[in-house]
Amino acid sequence: PLRPVLPPDIRARKGTAPLVVLTAYTTPMARLVDPHCDIALVGDSVGMVLHGMASTLGVTMEMMVLHGRSVVKGCGKAMVVIDMPFASYEESPAQAYRNAARLMAETGAPAVKLEGGAHMAETIAFLTRRGVPVMAHIGLTPQAVNTLGGYKVVGREDEADRVMQDALAVQEAGAFAVVLEKVPMGLAGRITERLEIPTIGIGAGAACDGQVLVIDDMLGLFTEFRPRFVKRYAELGKAADEAIAAYAADVRARAFPAEEHGFPDVLPAKGQK
Ligand code: KIV
Ligand code: NA
Repeated sequence: PLRPVLPPDIRARKGTAPLVVLTAYTTPMARLVDPHCDIALVGDSVGMVLHGMASTLGVTMEMMVLHGRSVVKGCGKAMVVIDMPFASYEESPAQAYRNAARLMAETGAPAVKLEGGAHMAETIAFLTRRGVPVMAHIGLTPQAVNTLGGYKVVGREDEADRVMQDALAVQEAGAFAVVLEKVPMGLAGRITERLEIPTIGIGAGAACDGQVLVIDDMLGLFTEFRPRFVKRYAELGKAADEAIAAYAADVRARAFPAEEHGFPDVLPAKGQK
């Protein structure tokens, strides 16, 4: 059996081959992601991607437990990281610990991710000292969309130093890796050079130690909107639309089901089909 990838292995990958990360929310998608990726991230993007929510704010612990379990079942090689949902960790280190431990215990995932830099450092330290490996997430933090005033780039000009300080703070607190979302490319490069833990970029340029995308975005399944940082590697939404249209036309024309899809009233004799 394969030895599972654990947070120290991910941390030790700094300066070697780029880390490959995709989100996954279900067992079948996890099975597709697993052989190719180092990490399968059960992102709270699940709320928008699979549950039609307008933001990630309505995502609950129950949703993360269910999707987390589903993804753990589909992964044999990639490490599973589960997002802590909005309002499950911000109140206190103790609240964060209780919920992170629940995510790990009820899913089998070996790590969690939470949003926030310097202001979450105390919480990250509290968790990591108690057996909860933490992946941090700084730059654009979508759970803070209402205080940030939208999904804008974070870290241009006089904001750059604050993002650098956030990166240093989460590293110091014990995070094993940090996601940089929608951070300008130059700054992401400087953070990556300065840190000893891997940076995983999304809309943060090629200098990061790894890259992450939302699986439904890169497969062309989620098409409500398309951020500039998404590259579409397939058009599965279009393929599904064509397949469903063909099925609908067949049913209306009584072209489906055909003889071969049905069950004869009398069993055929042995040797016959
Ligand atoms: O929720 C998510 O999918 C994420 C990644 C995009 C980093 O947090
Ligand atoms: Na997320």
